[in-house]
Amino acid sequence: MIDLEKVELRQADPGNFKDIAYLLAIKNDPENYQYYGKSGIWTKDQIVEFIKKERFLFIAEYDGKRIGRIGLYDIKKDSARVGRTFVNEDCRGNQIGALMTLKMIQIAYHQLNVKTVYCEVRASNNASYKMHQRLGFYPIRTKKGTIYMQLDKLSRNAKDFCERYGI
Ligand SMILES: CC(C)(COP(=O)(O)OP(=O)(O)OC[C@H]1O[C@@H](n2cnc3c(N)ncnc32)[C@H](O)[C@@H]1OP(=O)(O)O)[C@@H](O)C(=O)NCCC(=O)NCCS
Repeated sequence: MIDLEKVELRQADPGNFKDIAYLLAIKNDPENYQYYGKSGIWTKDQIVEFIKKERFLFIAEYDGKRIGRIGLYDIKKDSARVGRTFVNEDCRGNQIGALMTLKMIQIAYHQLNVKTVYCEVRASNNASYKMHQRLGFYPIRTKKGTIYMQLDKLSRNAKDFCERYGI
């Protein structure tokens, strides 16, 4: 059981070789193509460049171990997309995904002043769909096996969660 209060969320550091190794391993694992689509194998230099240019690419750490990553993409005046959420397999089901997603949403709302947050979920990905739905996202369209979801306001549950964990 993971104590969510002790999960630390911070910006990924392009100078930290453990961050680089962690993000590279997720990116290059063919097991993850089912969630994010197929992409070529990246080199260390590519991932460093990626980390440098991302404004909001966060890593979750627990007990000195990296256990998840998340990012905020397609940042526009009124909207942003939360995505590439990943929690280590042995840590799933502990609401770490929800914690990370809410952190990104709060940044979008309060730092970027956007009104709408989107996400994209594969239709086959029940865990991700359920997690986003519980936070207040709702489906707006489905295209080629991807469900596009929108969030206008957080659910009551999500608000309570933010309050409880100081997000
Ligand atoms: C999607 C993901 C980020 C969710 O993270 P998480 O920390 O497990 O999320 P939560 O614990 O907040 O919620 C997970 C939900 O999926 C359910 N679930 C389904 N399969 C599960 C599994 N193998 N382990 C744990 N929970 C699972 C949980 O019961 C929970 O639903 P509930 O709230 O109705 O009980 C995580 O499963 C993951 O990294 N998956 C692989 C990558 C991925 O799919 N990313 C999302 C791309 S859109």
